[in-house]
Amino acid sequence: MIFRAYIFFARLKSEDKIREMPFKIPYGSFVSLLIITYSVHGKSTQPHILFILADDFGFNDIGYHNSEINTPNLDKLAAEGIKLENYYVQPICTPTRSQLLSGRYQVHTGLQHGIIWPQQPNALPLDSPILPQKLKEVGYSTHAVGKWHIGFYKKEYLPTNRGFDSYFGYLTGSEDYYTHYRCDGKMCGTDLRDNTNPANYSGVYSTHLFSQKAADIVKKHNTDQPLFLYLPFQSVHAPLQVPEKYTQPYRHIKNKHRRVYAGMVSAMDEAVGNLTEVFKQKGIWNNTLMVFSTDNGGQILEGGNNYPLRGWKGSLWEGGMHGVGFVHGQMLRRRGVVSNELIHVTDWYPTLVSLAGGNLNGTKPLDGVDQWKTISEGSVVNQRKSILHNIDPLSKPKGQMWPNSPFDNRIRAALRMGDWKLVTGNPGNGSWVPPPHVNLGVLDMENSTSNKNIWLFNITADPYEHKDVSDTMPHVVMQMLDLLAQYNKTAVPCRYPKMDPKADPKYHGGYWGPWL
Ligand SMILES: *[C@@H]1O[C@H](CO)[C@@H](O)[C@H](O)[C@H]1NC(C)=O
Ligand SMILES: *[C@@H]1O[C@H](CO)[C@@H](O)[C@H](O)[C@H]1NC(C)=O
Ligand SMILES: *[C@@H]1O[C@H](CO)[C@@H](O)[C@H](O)[C@H]1NC(C)=O
Ligand SMILES: *[C@@H]1O[C@H](CO)[C@@H](O)[C@H](O)[C@H]1NC(C)=O
Repeated sequence: MIFRAYIFFARLKSEDKIREMPFKIPYGSFVSLLIITYSVHGKSTQPHILFILADDFGFNDIGYHNSEINTPNLDKLAAEGIKLENYYVQPICTPTRSQLLSGRYQVHTGLQHGIIWPQQPNALPLDSPILPQKLKEVGYSTHAVGKWHIGFYKKEYLPTNRGFDSYFGYLTGSEDYYTHYRCDGKMCGTDLRDNTNPANYSGVYSTHLFSQKAADIVKKHNTDQPLFLYLPFQSVHAPLQVPEKYTQPYRHIKNKHRRVYAGMVSAMDEAVGNLTEVFKQKGIWNNTLMVFSTDNGGQILEGGNNYPLRGWKGSLWEGGMHGVGFVHGQMLRRRGVVSNELIHVTDWYPTLVSLAGGNLNGTKPLDGVDQWKTISEGSVVNQRKSILHNIDPLSKPKGQMWPNSPFDNRIRAALRMGDWKLVTGNPGNGSWVPPPHVNLGVLDMENSTSNKNIWLFNITADPYEHKDVSDTMPHVVMQMLDLLAQYNKTAVPCRYPKMDPKADPKYHGGYWGPWL
């Protein structure tokens, strides 16, 4: 328990204020007020936090977006909570995870370009504390189960050296769901760890494994302490693997990729349902804030779908970044509603730290905004107005400079400013791809050989990016290029080191792990 005493001195000036007081104090005299507050770490004030991150889970793959995939548990939780329908993540894994855990844009961490490959000596820098470190400072018990993917080439980058009390999961970006084996080029090895130790659960499907490990943490948890459980599932990233029983309900889906993917989604949905039951049995569900988020858009080539959004995983079109997300918890002031406020994955850091009663001391400048009131109350006070989706200086330049542009619009970048979204360079595949059972055909508006490198959309009016208005709104284009140029000035150099042969698991007992 923490007591705080505040003493206020004030000279009374206003007659009005005095009149409101129950007793009479001579006008103009000094008064002092002693206010004593106390806060209890634990039970009553700090909620438990369950953060579930799905991998490559598409916008059109959750039941409540009218998907042909059934997600009864996720649908129910979202319906009881708040659906975030104007929610943005990054187009691929490492970028989203690094921004979630640091609260900072890629341009500020050097991770502007791509994912971290298993053989690459790269990681989210240690120069700013990450989310579990801040939560630990204010008494949380912190645990991570699942995919890491923000770097592991040195021991100091492992989860248990970055604020997690415990970790169970895999460090790279993808692997076999049963053997937990991963090949990158010619290098192959198992990727599974219990804290820092190699683990072997060969034959156990990761969705079951991770959900069981998460349940164990909840069951063992001392409820006097607040819990932070970060659960980045392997589901539903490729490879397309799932126990047969989960694909049974989808026999009618003819496309094999889509059918297996649907089964994988169902397994994840079941895992979420199971885990919420464990929280309930423990008696802490009422004081748990659950956040569910995808890490990026669905991968069309591996069964995912984002229709009617344009593009998919890896692109700066909406299909790559306009993500599925919702929150659930009794502490939300409004429930059963949809939030249309602009929320970005960097916002979780300040939002959750402040909800936990923590502070942001010691962090490098954050790009996230505390959105608790925005989400919980629909408040418009502290709303986010813009998102730097990314500037990738290592992208291959495309086309010509826009006349008098303050920003090199030949490189891949995207910026949201109010209703407007500007896309430059080569943003990736911009097709509209309906799910395979919808007989519409793929619509691709852009000729891939064209040199077009600027698009402007009014995303609020045109969320599916059908109508590029860059020609008719050149002043908005210029304004946004200016803002991109300003962001670019704050960027740190991009780190994308060469693959390192020393990473080979054959030198490390057959496991992927730190090598430097
Ligand atoms: C894990 O256990 C299985 C079965 O016991 C064994 O075949 C496999 O070689 C082990 N893997 C590692 C990396 O030790
Ligand atoms: C959920 O719990 C049931 C009952 O214990 C179990 O059979 C199932 O495998 C669990 N599912 C997952 C995904 O962990
Ligand atoms: C949780 O809250 C609900 C509604 O506020 C209440 O009905 C229920 O009894 C609570 N459960 C526990 C375990 O406190
Ligand atoms: C930040 O505040 C916490 C207390 O909330 C304290 O433990 C920690 O030492 C502070 N860190 C810095 C860098 O000031």
